[in-house]
Amino acid sequence: MTSADIDQIVTHPVPERLLKSPDFPTPHVDSMEKYKAMWKESVEKPKEFFGKLATDLLSWSKPFQTVTHGSFEKGDVAWFLEGELNASYNCVDRHALKTPDKIAIIHEGDEPDKVRRITYGELLRDVCRMANVLKSLGVRKGDNVAIYMPMVPEAIVGILACARIGAIHSVVFAGFSAESLRDRVMDSSARVILTSDEGRRGGKNIATKRIVDDALRDRETPVEHVIVLRRTGTPVPWENDRDLWWHEEVAKARTFCSPEPMNSEDPLFLLYTSGSTGAPKGILHTTGGYLLGAAATVKYIFDYHENDIFACMADIGWVTGHSYIVYGPLTLGATTVLFESTPTYPNPSRFWNLIEKHKITQFYTAPTAIRALRRLGDEWVEGIDLSSLRVIGSVGEPINPEAWDWYNEKVGKGKCAVVDTYWQTETGSIIVSPLPGATPTKPGSATFPFFGIDPVILDPTTGKVMDVVDETGVLAIRQPWPSMARSVYNNHSRFMETYLSPYPGYYFTGDGASRDKDGYIWIRGRVDDVINVSGHRLSTAEIESALVHHETVAEAAVIGGFDSLTGQCIHAFVTLKPHIEATEDFLTKELTLQVRKIIGPFAAPKRIYIVNDHPKTRSGKIMRRVLRKIVDNEHKQLGDISTLADPSVVAVIIEKVHGPV
Ligand code: PRX
Repeated sequence: MTSADIDQIVTHPVPERLLKSPDFPTPHVDSMEKYKAMWKESVEKPKEFFGKLATDLLSWSKPFQTVTHGSFEKGDVAWFLEGELNASYNCVDRHALKTPDKIAIIHEGDEPDKVRRITYGELLRDVCRMANVLKSLGVRKGDNVAIYMPMVPEAIVGILACARIGAIHSVVFAGFSAESLRDRVMDSSARVILTSDEGRRGGKNIATKRIVDDALRDRETPVEHVIVLRRTGTPVPWENDRDLWWHEEVAKARTFCSPEPMNSEDPLFLLYTSGSTGAPKGILHTTGGYLLGAAATVKYIFDYHENDIFACMADIGWVTGHSYIVYGPLTLGATTVLFESTPTYPNPSRFWNLIEKHKITQFYTAPTAIRALRRLGDEWVEGIDLSSLRVIGSVGEPINPEAWDWYNEKVGKGKCAVVDTYWQTETGSIIVSPLPGATPTKPGSATFPFFGIDPVILDPTTGKVMDVVDETGVLAIRQPWPSMARSVYNNHSRFMETYLSPYPGYYFTGDGASRDKDGYIWIRGRVDDVINVSGHRLSTAEIESALVHHETVAEAAVIGGFDSLTGQCIHAFVTLKPHIEATEDFLTKELTLQVRKIIGPFAAPKRIYIVNDHPKTRSGKIMRRVLRKIVDNEHKQLGDISTLADPSVVAVIIEKVHGPV
């Protein structure tokens, strides 16, 4: 969007219904003045602000003395230093003790009539049992456990069981291939993997255990045991000295396991994410600060109140699932919805029926899903009672104003707060977003920083703060906040190089952003080689490496093109080794399979072009900028290509992509 486009955007006031209706609770922050005052205090007096919040929202077995310590320069950020707490105690026990019969998890199965409700009392027993199983297998504080599971309550049980005994969980999205899973298991030295015989999604069975078997085949791995949940009952191959049935093991286990007291800075989990170079990074989050960020954002950004039914549609394999299905809602004692299916199964009313059936109050999904459902027509959302909703959220990629308007009008009926929430795996919880009762919204803008976040827009070349309206620079954060990642697992120097060294004194997000005349923040997308397809974060380098692993490929260049449904899509330009005698059709199919096999189905390129050469500088560097302009139909504005080693390559590629001119 240009600044002229931004000027056309209509500002939406806070819906009256949220502030005035006797049927609704008063928002925690109910005016812009209040937000501003709280934000000012949070960045100017973080010790007071977060010290109080951490005492209000979390239970500590040993109180902290020092609220915050360390700096970006030194890369030694720490929060609530001497404090001890346990994340599973905070998410389960304290609620189970007070309100054992309150529903903790509503599981809406793949088939709409398959609903399971799990109370806090039941969750405590299940978590304790699994924690005891892990202990009986020798898993101890500081050990790693990988979780490769479908969207079933046992996945949450597994996560919390690890947290209970101080094991570090590393959830791997169950759409990742065997090879990706193996890389993550090896990097994290996981001793145990939790999985299921199969998963169910959109009416289909997914061979989860088979992928785990493939990941562990023919290689020395650190994995001693695989615990297998029976989800579909389909027979699966079995390794007697390695595999264990979940139901058999928990049946043997005691129903209480005392929570391990963890230092606030002890690791809670790893989550692998793609960066611009090299292998995926194991982003490390610690206990106290992370938990506080997750809980505080549910409270303020989703305006959570007791008895709300909170529904986040993400997968637990991504950070959104960690913070907004598991840790945030459960820390506050909420009822969280775990959705196993897809937005269109068995038909495109699925989300809306889900809201009506469970009387959901907060609903959180991604722009891609909103765009896809909008395209399928309003009839799927009309006539369904969505009046329980107060806050509807969007996450993972920029939301275009058309999709925002549709979400606001058709789903929110113009009466809900729409929160476009900006954050990252590394930030742990939302860092830029409106607050429901306070912030007038502009479709397409994530608006203002959350408490404790002091964002700046830097000139990418000089690193100086840009105080200019509507100019795009890089988004950086000026001071540490509690839920930020602490490191890259076993690679702190990579953490420093990626986030803290590029602009000394700042955390670098990797996103471009601008501020408009009213101070609203507009996120402009990644400035590095990360592509965002349907909110899935992928690195061009990873896809290129998967392609060049194929025996026919000499060199590959991958770029993100514009896509009106998925935001971005993957285009791959591939050159072949000499004497390859296969048809293009055959090769593109082969190469697509190659990416699916090495990374996972969601990383498959939309288009693969077999080309004779890439546009390269004289020093041999591929100019991806040129390829990007060609696929986005901007090849008339290529700029200066005289520095290319062979400028004639460009015309050939244009013809390949757009056909003869
Ligand atoms: O580019 C930004 C985009 O998603 C990236 C983070 O991806 P990931 O770590 O997978 O986490 C996704 C869920 C938090 C960011 O660097 N992004 C995320 N939310 C938004 C967004 N871009 C624009 N607007 C958003 N609301």
